Amino acid sequence: MLSTEVVEILNKQTAVEANASHAYLALASWSEEKNLPGIAEYFYVAAEDERSHFLEIVKYINQHQAPAIIKSVSQPRSSFISLLEVFQFVWELEHNNTLNINEVASVCLKNKDFATYKFMEAFIIEQQNSEKSVEDLIHMIKTLGHEDKNLYYINKNFKKLLDKAAASEA
Ligand SMILES: [Fe+2]
Repeated sequence: MLSTEVVEILNKQTAVEANASHAYLALASWSEEKNLPGIAEYFYVAAEDERSHFLEIVKYINQHQAPAIIKSVSQPRSSFISLLEVFQFVWELEHNNTLNINEVASVCLKNKDFATYKFMEAFIIEQQNSEKSVEDLIHMIKTLGHEDKNLYYINKNFKKLLDKAAASEA
C-alpha cells in the first residue's frame, strides 16, 4: 500500500510526463511546419517516450490500489525563432522533469517507500541521459550554425549526427 504523500507526488508526476509528451508533439508540428521532417521524427519519438512514462506511472499507481488521477494537459509552447531556441527550450523541459523526478524520489525516501524508489530509479537515470543528449545537440547546432542554409543539412543528417554523438560517448 502506498502512502498518501507518495500517491500524491506520483499523480503530480503523471501530469508532468503528459505535459512533456504534449510539448514534444508541439515541437514535432513546429518542425513539420519548417519543413524539417528529420527533426520532427526525433520529436515524435520523444513524445511517445514521455507518453510511455506517463502510462508506466499511471499503471504503477493503479496496480497499488490507489487510483491514478488523470489531469488535463496545458497548451504547449509552439512559437520559436530558431532551432537553437527550440533545443534550449527542450533542455529546460528536460531539466524541469529531472527536478520533478528527483522530488518524487526524495518523497519516496522520506516515506521509507524503497519499492517505489526502486521503480523510480530508471526514470532518474533516463533523465540524466536526456539532459546530456540535449546538451550534445545544442553543442552540435551551435557548432554547425543554425542559419537557414545549415538547417537543411542538420535536418537531413539529424539521425546520423545523433548516432555519431551517441557513438562518441561510448
Ligand atoms: Fe519522462
